[in-house]
Amino acid sequence: ISDESQNVISAYGWLTKLYHHLLRFAKDGKDGYQYFKNRGISDETIDTFKLGFAPNKSEFTASFLEKKGFHLQPLIKAGVLLDRENEQPIDRFRGRIIFPIRNHLGITVGFGARTLLKDDTPKYLNSAESELFKKNTLLFNFDLAKKHIRKLNEVILFEGYMDVISSYQAGFKNCVATMGTSLTEYQAKLLKRYVDTIIICYDSDRAGQEGAYRAAKILQGVGCSVKVGLLQDGMDPDSFIQEYGAKQFENQVIKGSDTFITFYMRYLRDKYALNQEDDRIRYIQAVLKEIAKIKSVIEREHYLKIIQDEFKISLDALQQELSRYVTVEK
Ligand code: UTP
Ligand code: MN
Ligand code: MN
Ligand code: MN
Ligand code: MN
Repeated sequence: ISDESQNVISAYGWLTKLYHHLLRFAKDGKDGYQYFKNRGISDETIDTFKLGFAPNKSEFTASFLEKKGFHLQPLIKAGVLLDRENEQPIDRFRGRIIFPIRNHLGITVGFGARTLLKDDTPKYLNSAESELFKKNTLLFNFDLAKKHIRKLNEVILFEGYMDVISSYQAGFKNCVATMGTSLTEYQAKLLKRYVDTIIICYDSDRAGQEGAYRAAKILQGVGCSVKVGLLQDGMDPDSFIQEYGAKQFENQVIKGSDTFITFYMRYLRDKYALNQEDDRIRYIQAVLKEIAKIKSVIEREHYLKIIQDEFKISLDALQQELSRYVTVEK
């Protein structure tokens, strides 16, 4: 790791403390504190995640860092400050709540910064991609979740910061998030080193469900067993927990999570017009192709029966069709 990255790490350390302290105790951080309170986040959780607030003052961060003896150029590159000609760089995250992003060792290597305003875009600003901050290799909260993941041999995979924070606060601490981007094979392999079972719990919107499907494929590809948690329309895990509470999250979403095939059957439905005959057939064939990959005969029969019941096709016909898709392992 370069000297410059080392410097940025050190600056992030100071800034995490500063922003967190302001949020908790200062007038300048009151808006941020109130925001978290309105979203049901406790002081204890704020402290655990060192959540913070960057005051709405253009030169606040730059002045602070200069007083601490930091060069500003690396922090401009890191995306914390915005360069201006002949003037002090301004604070890129000003007026936003701050989510420190730690690597697997617990070292803060970046920030996510959310606006407090309702329709402000972008909703989140993040540190710039760099040698230090590679979103594709990081999993938000992995350092704190690790021991819980090991103990339970299960990990819950979310999209966002707030999902992890609400889940952790509700007692489901074996959780990480991909921070909005698609799960990568690198991240999947990382998880596979700690667990066999992954519960994907993405937002219920179209983007979330597409992301869940892609993540499931990648996770299966590295040998993980995949389950998918289902939320009501319009919800994400954070809003679910805040609205229905921990018990229902556990029963419906975690314990009630679907197997991959059940998720896939639901996911695929939207892609076909099931009231049309030819589409119905193509849908069934697509599902059968997936069922054909299952090793257990009992499991296969279980899903075939579900199709039999819904589409009134004989088990015998389904089994014959299925056998066309089974690839014999050599
Ligand atoms: P979402 O849009 O689902 O946001 O993005 P959210 O986490 O539910 O946010 P809240 O509840 O409105 O506060 C999921 C994740 O994608 C990343 C963030 O990591 C976010 O948590 N993201 C999203 C960005 O990096 N930039 C964005 O503009 C939006
Ligand atoms: Mn989303
Ligand atoms: Mn969301
Ligand atoms: Mn959202
Ligand atoms: Mn959300």
